[in-house]
Amino acid sequence: MNIYINNARIIDPATAMDIRGDLYIKDGVIRGIYERAHENSDPDIKKIAAEDTIIIDGTGLIASPGFIDVHSHFRDPGLTYKEDIITGASAAAAGGYTTVVCMANTKPVVDNEEVLDDLIKRESALPVNVLQDASVTIGLEGRELTDMETLKKHGAAGFTDDGVPVCDKELLREALLKCRELDVPISLHEEDPALLGSPGVNRGRVSDALSLKGAPSEAEYKLVMRDLHINRSIGAKLDIQHVSAKETVEALRTAKAEGIRVFSEVTPQHLSSTEDLVLKKGSLARVNPPLRTEADRQALIAGLRDGTIDIVATDHAPHSKEEKSRPVETAPSGMTGLETALGLLLTNLYATGELSLSRILYCLTKAPADLYGLDAGRIRLGGTADVVLFDPDRKWIVPDEFYSKASNTPYIGDELKGRVIYTICRGKIVYSCK
Ligand code: DOR
Ligand code: ZN
Repeated sequence: MNIYINNARIIDPATAMDIRGDLYIKDGVIRGIYERAHENSDPDIKKIAAEDTIIIDGTGLIASPGFIDVHSHFRDPGLTYKEDIITGASAAAAGGYTTVVCMANTKPVVDNEEVLDDLIKRESALPVNVLQDASVTIGLEGRELTDMETLKKHGAAGFTDDGVPVCDKELLREALLKCRELDVPISLHEEDPALLGSPGVNRGRVSDALSLKGAPSEAEYKLVMRDLHINRSIGAKLDIQHVSAKETVEALRTAKAEGIRVFSEVTPQHLSSTEDLVLKKGSLARVNPPLRTEADRQALIAGLRDGTIDIVATDHAPHSKEEKSRPVETAPSGMTGLETALGLLLTNLYATGELSLSRILYCLTKAPADLYGLDAGRIRLGGTADVVLFDPDRKWIVPDEFYSKASNTPYIGDELKGRVIYTICRGKIVYSCK
């Protein structure tokens, strides 16, 4: 199947290309990028395109490199009542994602070759690119490192104990050394249990109102500072996951200025909402690390704008209806994210003038590609045709049913502006908006 996209606004954030024009996709590859002087300066499609070409009218749409999510939970194996790799991949496609990195906190944990081999085999058959991280420690128990070398040989894209931190300093040092040697990312969930109180709700006004101990910012930033310090002399591809606190942003800014090697992620939900959402939506707004204050949210936006934070990642964390209908103190933390990411970002950051479109797209494409060293996240001649077409002005109401198996998002019923219309992965249409 060949595809010709007519008259779109084509943005390649990596090269700051931002043109009106056409894209020709043939045999899975971008074969033509034609700039138009004006809307009616039609290139002769018949001359360019082969006969069996689908023509997509791109008028009013933006063509961007397909999004890359470095932080998703597809719950496969073992927790597939929440999500599985097939529904997870459909949710990704519906959200404009053409590459997703899955976390290792499955059942069993992805800490050995058997689990990893089986997953990678099944993931390689999916319509979008799904990469798999393995865990840093066996069983996510924080006691013994996995055999990272073997796991890398078997295809692990990186390492993470996401969901829990690596508390043991010496073990983390060893892990960083190994990951630097193997030249793979190591992604850390930073919440120190010794300082945590109760996870999922920010410590302060809201946790007090709910009579919970709450999760203080210091549980995050103190651990981040420890790990930045350890990595100073090691220089591993350290990735700080879902940054939530203003002090963490400041610590990352200082670390980068000092030349410490570090990448970091922020989620659309932490950029869009504050702890008040917990008062309105209860368990659905419970997430680790928690949504925090407006001052924190502003610091995250400023950090993303000035390059302190590199990547927007969803932390797509599906849970069942039954689990999320429990009271806020016992419901599991996490919310789905793949299908609402673009809408949240465009509504809450672009439409408000706080972030430019090119910066948002960079953080969804080139920056995550760089962390994993992927030849993706670009629109370029000869490159694989992973492309998303979206309408930045199209309004839609977040539904209560998704391509994901799960619907645990606090944004159901909200109006968002910005909608994915087509997702194209390896030259094939893998999602089209009905
Ligand atoms: O809220 C969260 N849920 N945070 C995490 O880091 C893990 C995730 C999950 O796996 O449900
Ligand atoms: Zn996490």
